[in-house]
Amino acid sequence: MSIATATEAPGAFQGTLTDKLKEQFDAGLLSGQELRPDFTIAQPVHRYTSTDHAIWRKLYERQAAMLQGRVSDEFLQGLATLGMDKDRVPDFDQLNETLMRATGWQVVAVPGLVPDQVFFEHLANRRFPASWWMRKPEQLDYLQEPDCFHDVFGHVPLLINPVFADYMEAYGKGGLKANGLGALDMLSRLYWYTVEFGLIRTAQGLRIYGAGILSSQGESIYSLDSASPNRIGFDVRRIMRTRYRIDTFQKTYFVIDSFEQLFDATRPDFAPLYEELRAQPTLGAGDVAPGDQVLNVGTREGWADTEDI
Ligand SMILES: [Fe+2]
Repeated sequence: MSIATATEAPGAFQGTLTDKLKEQFDAGLLSGQELRPDFTIAQPVHRYTSTDHAIWRKLYERQAAMLQGRVSDEFLQGLATLGMDKDRVPDFDQLNETLMRATGWQVVAVPGLVPDQVFFEHLANRRFPASWWMRKPEQLDYLQEPDCFHDVFGHVPLLINPVFADYMEAYGKGGLKANGLGALDMLSRLYWYTVEFGLIRTAQGLRIYGAGILSSQGESIYSLDSASPNRIGFDVRRIMRTRYRIDTFQKTYFVIDSFEQLFDATRPDFAPLYEELRAQPTLGAGDVAPGDQVLNVGTREGWADTEDI
């Protein structure tokens, strides 16, 4: 299973807040702490325990080692530029000194998942909301809610890359519009299959850039090496129609050629696209459709029969 799953996709807060997410949010809000109107808090750096730092170190060392030759160069460059501490949970203010200089982005601490509108507002203003808390020792390989390791190790390095940084801002602006057009389901799929579970084609072969993959040991191997999943060329229309998995590894990965391709796809106004796609049926997470640029068709081995989202 992937470390971070669908509860963090935009759309998770549609309707009412689920009890579980509300519980996690409340747990991440320490007593006496001020929750600002934008749902951020001051990162309580003094609250991290030696266990929190040890978990950070263990996950960082494990993922940094296994990602060599698997992750995009842009991610590794971002990680190196940030100079993220591998021994301690990073201080967001320190990360922000480098990040702000590079692309004007900053990381802001939140108690847990924030409502969609708030999330999009942050992205549209180049702020990445990151859970401040660390997972527990028994959650090393899997937890449903995004913790600090997933959010910071998984998402922040690519924000150093100017093109990806622009894409994330454009996504946030798109989210603000989609919310008003009732199109959050379609836009959420784009986030899911790119920011969380995207692969990129390079001269050296396929590489990971999605944070949901690269913060998970198992999916970092599965997404590139397994014959089970489909790997299909990026197509924004196709992705917006494709349901996804929240409880298992993905059945399909979409592959971009460059971050420019990703950013360019967000240039047009999505409103007419939503209209057009709304009239078409959605596709299952493991479907291969006519017109797909298929890199490989999955063997479907080990695929669960449970429902796609
Ligand atoms: Fe994430």
